Amino acid sequence: MKVLVTGGAGFIGSNFILYWLKNHPKDKIINLDKLTYAGNLDNLKSVENNPNYKFIKGDICDPKFVNFLIYNEQIEIIVHFAAESHVDRSILNPAPFIKTNIEGTYILLEAALKNKIKRFHHISTDEVFGALKLGSKTKFNLNTPYNPRSPYSASKAAADHLVHAYYITYNLPITISNCSNNFGPYQFPEKLIPLIITNILEGKKVPVYGDGLYVRDWLYVEDHCRAIDLILQKGKLGETYLVGGLTDDISNLEVVKKIIKIMGRSEKIVEFVKDRPGHDRRYAIDWTKIKAELGWQPEFDFDTYLKYTVDWYTRNLDWWKRVKTGEYQEYYKKQYCK
Ligand code: NAD
Ligand code: TYD
Repeated sequence: MKVLVTGGAGFIGSNFILYWLKNHPKDKIINLDKLTYAGNLDNLKSVENNPNYKFIKGDICDPKFVNFLIYNEQIEIIVHFAAESHVDRSILNPAPFIKTNIEGTYILLEAALKNKIKRFHHISTDEVFGALKLGSKTKFNLNTPYNPRSPYSASKAAADHLVHAYYITYNLPITISNCSNNFGPYQFPEKLIPLIITNILEGKKVPVYGDGLYVRDWLYVEDHCRAIDLILQKGKLGETYLVGGLTDDISNLEVVKKIIKIMGRSEKIVEFVKDRPGHDRRYAIDWTKIKAELGWQPEFDFDTYLKYTVDWYTRNLDWWKRVKTGEYQEYYKKQYCK
């Protein structure tokens, strides 16, 4: 099978490529990535000489290039991760989110249709559903109406609708997955968990937005890759699958305190900072459909994966120190030193 992975140099995409080459050694993977600030080929060093892996630098917003690539490489399956993915950056500047997440997805869909792709799998987020009330037991499910509240989630919602529309209108064989917050190796340290771990390793304070009582549903990245694999093997065309973790309403502050405890530091390093505008209070995902239909569930609990993740960042100082330079420093100043 020839698989095109878009955004394969990013956090989840690179974990997916490593997972796929290990579990499907006969398949060929083409990684198409623009290498924005979030793309990092260091993540894929261990497979760069694998004859079944090829990296191609390019932009999903370039229709001629995308169409030629899919035709020329005789792509059969597209797994679409490429996106601008960070809510805070979407608040600072929505333009690249509209361009890549909406227009880029449209361009890929057109090329997939033209080249009679066997499957187009679109990776999306639970953030398209908006926010749940703190303290309620409600979870996002497949009947929850879309209600995105940030430029990032609005752009992902638009992309989801387009992907679904191509199934209904043109019969393009699609599947969609909406997952919760991922964490694990190779996550860019602008997101909460790697930012906290690496700040602690640098002896810095750890920033918590607002009152810290915001709730996310935490999914370990390798569990997510396994879910995508099952959807590609056994998922029903035209369907959406929700993928979440094993956390039971854990607040950001609790997550941060767990990391501090694992790393043996004092809670005095917590610094409450200015809240994010329009900050979604609570996310929780009902993933019973993928469990019932495809037999998927997370392998280990949150604490086990959190310890593993702390350990990974502690052992891979070179990886994140290279990332936390240049552009990152500029971004950090803009975001945290207001
Ligand atoms: P990421 O920001 O780490 O990586 C995105 C990758 O896409 C980067 O390698 C970047 O260079 C590439 N890219 C960006 N614009 C491009 C373009 N125009 N053309 C080609 N490549 C481009 O993101 P991630 O965390 O790995 O997320 C991957 C996908 O999963 C995204 O679609 C995101 O919306 C979704 N998602 C992520 C999370 C999460 O917690 N990280 C949760 C839910 C859904
Ligand atoms: P983030 O990792 O940016 O993911 P998302 O916004 O997609 O959920 O943030 C996760 C949660 O952590 C979110 O409620 C915002 C909060 N947060 C902080 O409190 N401090 C930080 O420095 C960051 C980056 C996030």
